[in-house]
Amino acid sequence: MLKVHFERENRTIQVEAGENLRQAAIRNKFSIYAHIHKILNCRGRALCTACTVQVVAGNVAPRNEAETEKLAKKPADFRLACQIAVDDDLVIKTHP
Ligand code: FES
Repeated sequence: MLKVHFERENRTIQVEAGENLRQAAIRNKFSIYAHIHKILNCRGRALCTACTVQVVAGNVAPRNEAETEKLAKKPADFRLACQIAVDDDLVIKTHP
């Protein structure tokens, strides 16, 4: 099991290797969304960017095509949680 620590909320969740970050958060009853986006989001289809997080520490695969397009003007460490497969212990900042 891997650990993902959410810096802002000071909460750590257990994640299966290769598990999607958004799905892991949901499984651990942790919301990566802010405010109204808890209800209004694209449910992991890389359309809304409401799940944008900052990877503060740990390694993740490079951005995929959808992330590259949606986050083109954001810093390189900003990622869509719905597009990340967790393969390392991570420290994440939500709604950066
Ligand atoms: S949930 Fe909409 S982009 Fe990730």
